[in-house]
Amino acid sequence: MTTFGVIGTGSMGSMLVRKMVESGQAGAHEIIVYNRSAEKALRLVGATGVRIAPSARDVAEQSDVLLLCVRPLEVRGVLLDLGGALTPEHLLVSVASDVTLGDLSAWSKARSARAIPAVTSECGGGVTLVAFGAAASDADRELVLSLFGAMSSPVEIAEEHFEVMTALTSCAPAFIAALMQEFAAAAVRRSGIALPVAEHLVRETLTGTACLLAASGTGFEEVIARVATEGGITRVGVDVIRQRVPGVFDEILAKTDARHDLVKAKIRETVP
Ligand SMILES: NC(=O)c1ccc[n+]([C@@H]2O[C@H](COP(=O)([O-])OP(=O)(O)OC[C@H]3O[C@@H](n4cnc5c(N)ncnc54)[C@H](OP(=O)(O)O)[C@@H]3O)[C@@H](O)[C@H]2O)c1
Repeated sequence: MTTFGVIGTGSMGSMLVRKMVESGQAGAHEIIVYNRSAEKALRLVGATGVRIAPSARDVAEQSDVLLLCVRPLEVRGVLLDLGGALTPEHLLVSVASDVTLGDLSAWSKARSARAIPAVTSECGGGVTLVAFGAAASDADRELVLSLFGAMSSPVEIAEEHFEVMTALTSCAPAFIAALMQEFAAAAVRRSGIALPVAEHLVRETLTGTACLLAASGTGFEEVIARVATEGGITRVGVDVIRQRVPGVFDEILAKTDARHDLVKAKIRETVP
């Protein structure tokens, strides 16, 4: 039996625990959790039946695989506090952005992996980006890919691509939602229709478009071609998007990159 420990049961940690239990990847009795403020962990225990530990150290001592789900600037503190409780017998899976495999191996003796999930796992969709440290075994790979495969499509990547690919996966639900919100708001400005009506139409259309894209063999170009015929009305709108939106996404990626650099610098600042 593999015991999974989870430190940090905020938004990401609790989603992972719920999905692990729902998917049957782990039984509730095989998961032990700890959170800094007890209420969140207790709520999760109430909802899923997983076990709760009195400290992070207890979680490490009782688990084979440790999912570390605290914020990037908190990772080093947690790992250093764990000290000898985390050994090469453990597989450490950190979901923190900007904390590298090098950091994880510098701050703990465990075999390590990184995973960047997305909130889309709530619906069993989207991508979890994964990368493995040098000490990770084939069995570790299999376990991590199976775990995240039960709630998403896991994609193993080179570590240097985490930032740009995180924008395309983990950040993207917010980007897509913000874009669609602006689309609905523009229709309200233009016509005076009610915002809830505009948002309902856009939301339903987004879900339907996702379904079309998910249908085998359907790519973006095919969806565009089916709707935006040459000389037609939709084509005019697609042309505006193609003229104006590349600059928007270039700026988004430049700004998110700069933010990653800042967080990485802050993580380094905490290192004596
Ligand atoms: N949210 C996303 O969409 C997403 C996607 C991919 C990756 N991630 C990564 O997931 C990690 C967690 O993000 P989140 O959105 O879940 O943040 P969050 O909701 O703030 O959760 C972090 C949790 O860690 C707990 N915590 C902090 N220090 C701790 C310690 N020393 N011991 C035990 N628990 C501790 C916090 O407890 P308190 O209740 O006391 O604050 C909080 O519940 C981040 O590193 C982020 O980069 C997030």
